[in-house]
Amino acid sequence: MKGVTIVGLAEIDTGKDVSYATDGPHPHLDTIFEVSNKYLRRVFNEQQLNEFKTDCLHNIRGDRDSTVEQFIKSYYDLVKKEYQKQYANADSALNQDIFSEPNRPKLLWGNCLDFLRRMDSESVQLMITSPPYYNARDYSQWETLDAYLDEMSCIIKECYRVLDNHRPFVFNVGDIFDNDNRQTKSTWGKRRIPLGAYFTMIFEEHGFQFVDDFIWDKGEVQTQRHKNGNRPYPLYQYPINCYEHIFIFYKHRLDETPYPCPICGCLKVNGNAYSGVGIKSWECKNLDCFKRSAGNRGKRFSARTQLMTGLQRAHNFVDEDLLRMWRRDIVKLAPVIKINSKGHNTLGHTAPFPREIPEYAVRVFSGMEESVLDPFAGSFTTTIESLRLGRNSIGIELNRTLFRDAVLKRIPGALFTKPKEVDSEWI
Ligand SMILES: C[S@@+](CC[C@H](N)C(=O)[O-])C[C@H]1O[C@@H](n2cnc3c(N)ncnc32)[C@H](O)[C@@H]1O
Repeated sequence: MKGVTIVGLAEIDTGKDVSYATDGPHPHLDTIFEVSNKYLRRVFNEQQLNEFKTDCLHNIRGDRDSTVEQFIKSYYDLVKKEYQKQYANADSALNQDIFSEPNRPKLLWGNCLDFLRRMDSESVQLMITSPPYYNARDYSQWETLDAYLDEMSCIIKECYRVLDNHRPFVFNVGDIFDNDNRQTKSTWGKRRIPLGAYFTMIFEEHGFQFVDDFIWDKGEVQTQRHKNGNRPYPLYQYPINCYEHIFIFYKHRLDETPYPCPICGCLKVNGNAYSGVGIKSWECKNLDCFKRSAGNRGKRFSARTQLMTGLQRAHNFVDEDLLRMWRRDIVKLAPVIKINSKGHNTLGHTAPFPREIPEYAVRVFSGMEESVLDPFAGSFTTTIESLRLGRNSIGIELNRTLFRDAVLKRIPGALFTKPKEVDSEWI
């Protein structure tokens, strides 16, 4: 290829032609590689580094700021790709299906544990779900509460691996009244089961951090429990159960990989104090960086602040009305009315959550075109809502025979392209 050779960049031994036309990379890219050379070698081996440099030289164009931005993005992408290679069980065909065509909903039919085990690590930016509440519905039955919690624990462990770093899992669950089947199967074994507390322990055991618990106030619900046998005396009294939890758990996997300075793009950085458990901070040591403090300190940042800054775009702006509605951690939402005047279930599912839950979660915890996964999708409320909001939406549901027809009817064909369906039995 004929063109102007950029001094310095051309010296890289890539085995490829690295000369460029006059509209080639900005000279600051050369500076980034010069200043970062020693540091890049600590992160990548010779081959990785050469390929990375070649890609940057061929693809990064534009002015200085845009060059810095593109370089940083390429660097983060490469670090992620190398991290994902450490997981041996990923199924590339499945991942290709799930992460291509972001405006197409992905309906995965089968056990979420099987699907999760085949997904790339840290590939999903937000998880939202409501699991089966132990034996509260007839679509799922476990022998004992412990068998149920063990199964949920395996799934949550896998969710932790698949969720991207510094990202949340929004988890709705209720403290149901049921028999834990630990001591007796008779009606005397019935009690309030604090599923929310058990799940919090499971999430923390697998590395998640508990951050918030919205109490969903369901208003007046249909139950006779508060009548307490019509005995207005001590020790007879029990309240109606009219709340559920909407937990916010975060993943902060401690990642010690150095990241480039968000101002100059150089990797000449030193470790700074940890800005939170699992969050490594860095300080730019490039004396020629475009922005240094009055005391001549370099920019301090973390992969998490970089992520949060990157999401501050006009298309991710969150409505004031929505924020006002979720300002307090007790939120009143009417349960979904699914039975119509003729007594038919219009949604085909006995326990859908209100669409306001995924709407809030999607808008507040993810950016446009990012991937949102619901591992217990039911009637795919999360999938439909996140698609409407411009996310790559993926739902996994075990009961294909029970829910498929109703789900397909719920997906408004006029709005969306045909869903991509993957059945675990067909793979
Ligand atoms: C509480 S419902 C979810 C309802 C959903 N939020 C909605 O709006 O329709 C839980 C769902 O998890 C499904 N389920 C149970 N175990 C599963 C598993 N291992 N993998 C995938 N789905 C599962 C059940 O069939 C049920 O539809």
